[in-house]
Amino acid sequence: MLEAKTPPPDEEIDPLTRLAIKHGTDKWGLHFYTPIYHSFFRLMRRQPVRLLEIGIGGYNLQSVGGASLSMWAEYFPEGRIVGIDVADKRLGLDPRIEVRRGSQDDPEFLTRVCDELGPFDIVIDDGSHVPQHVTSSFNVLFPRLRNGGFYVIEDVQTTFWPQFGGSTLGGATMRLAMAILEGLHHAEIKVAQPTRHIDDVSTLIRAFHAFHNLFLIEKGDNTEPSNHGFRLDNPHAARALRLIETEMNQRPTAAGAANMIQVQAVAGQVTQAWAMLDAALERWPDQPMLLYAGYNTALVSNDESRKREFLQALAALEPDNAWLHDLLRQMETEAAEPVA
Ligand SMILES: C[S@@+](CC[C@H](N)C(=O)[O-])C[C@H]1O[C@@H](n2cnc3c(N)ncnc32)[C@H](O)[C@@H]1O
Repeated sequence: MLEAKTPPPDEEIDPLTRLAIKHGTDKWGLHFYTPIYHSFFRLMRRQPVRLLEIGIGGYNLQSVGGASLSMWAEYFPEGRIVGIDVADKRLGLDPRIEVRRGSQDDPEFLTRVCDELGPFDIVIDDGSHVPQHVTSSFNVLFPRLRNGGFYVIEDVQTTFWPQFGGSTLGGATMRLAMAILEGLHHAEIKVAQPTRHIDDVSTLIRAFHAFHNLFLIEKGDNTEPSNHGFRLDNPHAARALRLIETEMNQRPTAAGAANMIQVQAVAGQVTQAWAMLDAALERWPDQPMLLYAGYNTALVSNDESRKREFLQALAALEPDNAWLHDLLRQMETEAAEPVA
């Protein structure tokens, strides 16, 4: 039997949770979302944030709902808050809150809301919680979200519940999560399958955060290369190497030089890697990390004799390493065998 862990002390209440309690939304109480939201949104509080929430609350009662919209309006004093609901709502909310009626599974309605009142910095799906709706809304709204924005799916648990169209095997929201995670790793998928089509949205999934019942997806640049597809025409790769080179010029270390040599070699700058290695070995002779970087550079450039040379140097430093000596013997045997 799992024991519940002690929650944080009561004094640690954050300002959004206070507002949730004041306005009576179940984002705190039945759920535990507001401290998570505050941890992501607190730096945006004073900005003119545009926030769209699917699901105003109160279902078919016209005069009930708007709790979370009022919370957001107070949390973001410069914000513009938009709530949509399939039900008719007559609530008399703060003038910074706009309400539109329509269903989250109607792509034309969602597109109209974005055109009229977007683009949004934050979208929160707290609507029907039907996994098919969750997926179709994400597909319409995420591409229209501002870069640097957040897309949140609440009550993810319904993906496991048959009464919502979910399944204990996962359901549509879990498949969406899988697709988002695959998109996040598009560069790695391309390494294994270069012909695989990557849609533009994948290059805009910056991060996927999963909490109990809540997914939060950050939109932003996702064009860092895979370590197995590391090319310097990628600006992230070029910047990484540039920063390493600058630091190594100013504050050189043997470990840093070894890493820089490996990055250069993997990026295809083998000549520079060898030159850097020779200079570094002069300064730090027999440094194991440098010898290992030399071995890896030889691997990248298919240089059998230098591979052996660096392994021999490492073997001299590690006379008791049976694995290393076996590997070396095997290489020497292979080198001695006549080519068929
Ligand atoms: C859980 S309540 C929202 C609570 C509110 N966000 C809050 O925290 O105070 C869910 C709302 O979603 C609305 N809803 C249900 N199906 C919907 C759909 N297909 N499109 C838009 N809203 C829907 C319901 O009418 C209901 O008011």
